[in-house]
Amino acid sequence: MKKNKIVVTGGCGYIGSHTIVELVGAGFEIISIDNYASSNDRIMAQIGQIVGKDIVNYPIDLCNFEAVKQIFEQHQDVVGIIHFAAYKTVPESVAKPLMYFENNLMSLINILKISALYDIKSIVFSSSCSVYGNVSKLPVTEKSKIQEPESPYARTKIMGEKIIEDFVKTNAVNAIALRYFNPVGAHESGLIGELPIGTPDNLVPFITQTAIGIRPKLSVFGTDYPTPDGTCVRDYVHVSDIAEAHVKAIQHLNTHHNQAQYEVFNLGTGKGVSVKEAIEAFEKATNLMLNYDFAPRRPGDVAAIYANNRKAKKILHWTPTRTLEQ
Ligand code: WQD
Repeated sequence: MKKNKIVVTGGCGYIGSHTIVELVGAGFEIISIDNYASSNDRIMAQIGQIVGKDIVNYPIDLCNFEAVKQIFEQHQDVVGIIHFAAYKTVPESVAKPLMYFENNLMSLINILKISALYDIKSIVFSSSCSVYGNVSKLPVTEKSKIQEPESPYARTKIMGEKIIEDFVKTNAVNAIALRYFNPVGAHESGLIGELPIGTPDNLVPFITQTAIGIRPKLSVFGTDYPTPDGTCVRDYVHVSDIAEAHVKAIQHLNTHHNQAQYEVFNLGTGKGVSVKEAIEAFEKATNLMLNYDFAPRRPGDVAAIYANNRKAKKILHWTPTRTLEQ
């Protein structure tokens, strides 16, 4: 009898690990598949400490179909898959496009083949607001035009969505793509969080590593954007809010309320915050003065993007609750 077992790919990653915590809290049984490409083997123990039970991770490469199939042979009671596992560093994707297309698309195709083979009806796909590119009309809705992506990484997300859209037309699978805006923050326990390997690309881990002295200073990339204070505007959404949205999405799919075979949802707060405002919020929340300077624009950055999150509120009954300071 199929119960409530969910496979989380990329379960040792930043969003995957936070989502496992919320899934266990909601009563799901979890299996993780993660080859530690951008994480490490200590995360499962930290998750275990938070949820009070051991979570199994299979350190398998999702591009190895036979190896993945063996896992599902052992777990024939899986009812859903949440697919996070992918490379996600924008500059690296520009330097190594084929590595990104091979890894991000092959792993997704294998997951979809598995869902058909084992009659797994619910698939949640980790997508990104980067599919919107440089939008002119804000806030962005799910119907906003998909523009030419600014990186091969973003292109793998657009292609991934399209692959799923075509796949579910001829397979009895319900799928949801969640387009994250800028996930930030950490679980309140502090036992898990964002720990990029090497020099962080993203703003918030760079801020935190500067604050604790790992980085000498933060550079703010560009102060001449057409925004209120000249720095880029983004929609920073707490990672635990993002995690809760995945629980809502899988619950929605498992109850087959999915309006169509394939649905897309924006996951953002709906509020635009500039780099300067993010720095000020961090200083206020931690009572630390951050060492930062102003530098030229970073290629590929869009001036401003933030979400219209009404669809996720209405259909998934999801509302982000954590504040920027939190
Ligand atoms: C935010 C702002 C930078 C670092 C990311 C991912 C993208 C998607 C959304 C996953 C920008 C500025 C940054 C620094 C800075 N996530 N910045 N100094 O570029 O919006 O996109 O989140 O799918 O894939 O890349 O996030 O945190 O890199 O940058 O001034 O040292 O902070 O210029 O304006 P971004 P980010």
